Amino acid sequence: LRKAISPAPPDWFTQTNMCDWKYVTCTDLTIGLSSIESINLESKSLIGTLPPGLNNSLQNLKTLPLTNNNLTGPLPSFAGLSILQELSLGFNNFTSVPDGCFQGLTSLQVFRLDHNPNLAPWTFPATLNASSKLTIISLNTTNLIGSLPDAFHSFRDLEYLDLSRNSLTGSLPNSIEKLLTLQALHLDNQPNLSGKIDFLSSMTQLEYVSLHGNNFQGPVPDLSNCTKLMELDLGGNQLTGVVPSFMKLSALEEVKLEKNWLQGPVPLFKKSVSVTLEGNAFCLNQPGRPCDHRVTTLLQVAQAFGYPLLLARTWRGNNPCKGWSFITCDIQGTIRTVNLTKLNLNGTISPAFGNLTDLRELYLGGSNLNGSIPESLTSLSQLKILDVSNNNLSGIIPAFSPNVVLNASNNTFLVTSSPPPKGRPIASTTKHHLWIKLGTL
Ligand SMILES: *[C@@H]1O[C@H](CO)[C@@H](O)[C@H](O)[C@H]1NC(C)=O
Ligand SMILES: *[C@@H]1O[C@H](CO)[C@@H](O)[C@H](O)[C@H]1NC(C)=O
Ligand SMILES: *[C@@H]1O[C@H](CO)[C@@H](O)[C@H](O)[C@H]1NC(C)=O
Ligand SMILES: *[C@@H]1O[C@H](CO)[C@@H](O)[C@H](O)[C@H]1NC(C)=O
Ligand SMILES: *[C@@H]1O[C@H](CO)[C@@H](O)[C@H](O)[C@H]1NC(C)=O
Ligand SMILES: *[C@@H]1O[C@H](CO)[C@@H](O)[C@H](O)[C@H]1NC(C)=O
Ligand SMILES: *[C@@H]1O[C@H](CO)[C@@H](O)[C@H](O)[C@H]1NC(C)=O
Ligand SMILES: *[C@@H]1O[C@H](CO)[C@@H](O)[C@H](O)[C@H]1NC(C)=O
Ligand SMILES: *[C@@H]1O[C@H](CO)[C@@H](O)[C@H](O)[C@H]1NC(C)=O
Ligand SMILES: *[C@@H]1O[C@H](CO)[C@@H](O)[C@H](O)[C@H]1NC(C)=O
Ligand SMILES: *[C@@H]1O[C@H](CO)[C@@H](O)[C@H](O)[C@H]1NC(C)=O
Ligand SMILES: *[C@@H]1O[C@H](CO)[C@@H](O)[C@H](O)[C@H]1NC(C)=O
Repeated sequence: LRKAISPAPPDWFTQTNMCDWKYVTCTDLTIGLSSIESINLESKSLIGTLPPGLNNSLQNLKTLPLTNNNLTGPLPSFAGLSILQELSLGFNNFTSVPDGCFQGLTSLQVFRLDHNPNLAPWTFPATLNASSKLTIISLNTTNLIGSLPDAFHSFRDLEYLDLSRNSLTGSLPNSIEKLLTLQALHLDNQPNLSGKIDFLSSMTQLEYVSLHGNNFQGPVPDLSNCTKLMELDLGGNQLTGVVPSFMKLSALEEVKLEKNWLQGPVPLFKKSVSVTLEGNAFCLNQPGRPCDHRVTTLLQVAQAFGYPLLLARTWRGNNPCKGWSFITCDIQGTIRTVNLTKLNLNGTISPAFGNLTDLRELYLGGSNLNGSIPESLTSLSQLKILDVSNNNLSGIIPAFSPNVVLNASNNTFLVTSSPPPKGRPIASTTKHHLWIKLGTL
């Protein structure tokens, strides 16, 4: 190490016992035998490349703070340093991370490699899952690529996770929701990071959250259990839907929600909270003011589909008869037809459709809808056509008036009245049509 870095501390050349070297700390193993526990070379304007084999010769290393130098070249392997607690390599100029470099670090608590902008693209090391005592992971600006591995189950004590300014892609792994002790989550500026952010609602220790400038979709989750939340930045994503209330969060200081597709009323905040909201799809400008009842109803409809972006793109503002896709009105501004055929919608059919009292035609065929057909649809006195064919609906079809032309074909578990007796399967080549036909008979 002395040969490899420059300028090495002067007394590293004059003192013969390494344990007397400045910035080196030893621990006594037995009488007369000691080993190196820490090498602290933070902010020493060092250049050079760390030597390989560190992990073989410094087996008793507990901390290695090397932050803020100009070290370059590949990282050496740290594999097997089983009592290492802190590895701080941030603000350097390392050029690559060898495979397996962080394997077997079973005591690691602090892992910082942030601000090494010239690292060759690498992926988040799944082997870090052996480091179950981690409290800090800081990989801001380290050229991480690919999707995150499903390796977050292990981090039961993690408090700080910063993976900002990388090129991560895909949605976050399911195990992210196991980070129940997290206090700060930073995942900024990765335009190909997608998926939903529901996981936030169970992270009740959160104080700082920044997911700015990604491609996250779906609604803002209910964060009412995150009572310690101070700063929330969800700006510049593709979030949709009605924003849940933040009024109960007494620690809140700053909220940024700008440049999304958020719908419904402009959310209310306490006066003390600094709020950024521009560039959304709210119905009105005035905070807390309720939307037109048709908008409220259609947003309940959209909610049951998980607030898909394809609806949010045009379901904005306070008049569904003006520019909203899939909605047809008469000249009085009454919604007559809702045609959501083959939009690959997920979720369920909202009972709120029953509030579109003058609806004549409702097309919901050819998606992935599950759940049942809500009873409330039978109260639509003007309904003429209801198409729910080619979905995954189940349950009993409610009794519609004879004026309604119902197409409910090809829904696996939909029945017209009570299901057929168990244990008497009826031969049929298309299971999809089986129970429908029975009902019809
Ligand atoms: C790294 O090197 C550059 C160029 O020589 C210098 O300006 C900078 O201060 C150095 N940084 C550190 C942390 O030593
Ligand atoms: C040190 O790292 C190398 C390369 O990853 C590895 O082959 C070796 O087994 C490690 N040494 C120990 C003691 O684990
Ligand atoms: C970092 O390393 C690259 C090449 O690997 C070099 O071009 C650049 O000047 C280095 N930056 C600093 C601050 O030393
Ligand atoms: C870590 O992940 C590997 C696969 O990537 C798995 O085999 C191993 O069991 C995991 N270890 C822990 C402690 O979860
Ligand atoms: C990540 O790095 C950028 C650029 O240096 C910085 O502006 C940002 O504050 C860092 N994020 C965090 C959470 O420290
Ligand atoms: C995001 O993905 C697109 C398409 O795959 C690709 O062209 C672009 O380079 C990616 N951007 C980043 C920052 O990874
Ligand atoms: C908040 O916590 C309570 C109690 O654990 C739970 O019942 C409720 O569903 C949680 N709410 C949210 C929005 O997660
Ligand atoms: C409903 O929308 C589908 C797909 O855009 C279209 O093919 C169909 O003609 C529409 N139905 C009616 C009655 O407008
Ligand atoms: C429905 O879910 C599938 C699979 O997760 C997804 O690809 C599709 O985009 C979703 N549909 C909509 C309209 O969001
Ligand atoms: C219909 O609208 C009323 C008043 O806006 C509302 O209370 C009710 O929840 C709605 N019904 C459904 C089924 O959504
Ligand atoms: C619909 O499907 C989703 C995803 O498969 C499932 O989580 C949900 O429980 C289902 N809902 C109903 C009402 O069957
Ligand atoms: C049944 O519906 C599913 C889902 O929309 C569709 O993929 C499939 O082609 C349909 N089958 C028939 C026989 O129409």
